[in-house]
Amino acid sequence: MDPQADLRSRPFLPAWAYGSTQVAAAELELYAKHFWHPLACASQLPPGSCLALTLLDQPILLSQPLDGPPRAFLNRCPHRGVALQDPGAGTLACRRLVCPYHGWTYGLDGVLLAGAREADFLEPFERSAWPLQDLACQLLGSLIWVALAPDPIPLAEQLDLVQEEARPLLDQPRVLLASATQELASNWKIAHDNTLDDYHVAIAHPTTLHREQGPVRHYRYRLSRCATLLATPHAAGGEFLTFGLAPWTHLLFWPDGRLALIQFLPKGPGHCQMGVWLLGRPELEPGAQAWLAEIQTFLAEDQALVEAAQIGYASGLVPGPPHRLEQRILQQQALYRELMGDALIGSN
Ligand code: FES
Ligand SMILES: [Fe+2]
Repeated sequence: MDPQADLRSRPFLPAWAYGSTQVAAAELELYAKHFWHPLACASQLPPGSCLALTLLDQPILLSQPLDGPPRAFLNRCPHRGVALQDPGAGTLACRRLVCPYHGWTYGLDGVLLAGAREADFLEPFERSAWPLQDLACQLLGSLIWVALAPDPIPLAEQLDLVQEEARPLLDQPRVLLASATQELASNWKIAHDNTLDDYHVAIAHPTTLHREQGPVRHYRYRLSRCATLLATPHAAGGEFLTFGLAPWTHLLFWPDGRLALIQFLPKGPGHCQMGVWLLGRPELEPGAQAWLAEIQTFLAEDQALVEAAQIGYASGLVPGPPHRLEQRILQQQALYRELMGDALIGSN
């Protein structure tokens, strides 16, 4: 079947979209840049500090000035391109950023404060023309969100269902209690699809996630353009809220205010990096490792499945019919198709 017909005639994305280097490259430009990415918890960045990170191979520097909101910049000195901070260094207390190459010095707001030996440049030199390149940055839900393009979908739209269904929970102050990262031998879309797939939970996670989410007959769904929600009654009262968000992020809220964030960042067509952050009130810290172990138990069940599916897709699978409990996958794939547009067809 020709790729256009293949793409239009089937409910799920065709298997070739999960193994193509060209699709993977196009996704970074046409999909990832439309969205905001949670890069850190605000508790990791106290006033007067900075934190170097990498997002989709872009070097990023977060800073928290003594007053005002957090800021995000390319971690790249405008003079000759050197990183201002080492991405392995973690959070560093600092009042200003001094480039390790020629010593240009910037404020935490990105303004160039001094260039070394300024009087001796061959042409007149204006400090104000050489700030750090800043990126869109917002603080929401104790998380620092960054966009890699100047015109992303508004964060309020990306998180619309979260704001409508979990606003009081979202606004609770939280700290990062535990985190883990792991590489999966799976395209990010298989891992994201799997985390949106409510059809497999009772079978693949009978003693883990299924216990948390309860009987399928009580599932409550909401879908918007960018977000999906599965809400299930929780044994402790209230609801357990499972949000699947574009591009590859999942937010799980417990009624007591705990929040687990799971995301699958692409690493080429055949791999992704799974990140798990557990957030909550600081007094929950003593139980955080046990909570992380619980989450990692069901994620290990998923790892085996998504890595096996990656091999199956690569062997030319035609995906089977969609189930009602897979509606969250279809919703996210509809947005993906919309934003990828002709690039998806042209990439095959
Ligand atoms: S590269 Fe930063 S001061 Fe030269
Ligand atoms: Fe799963």
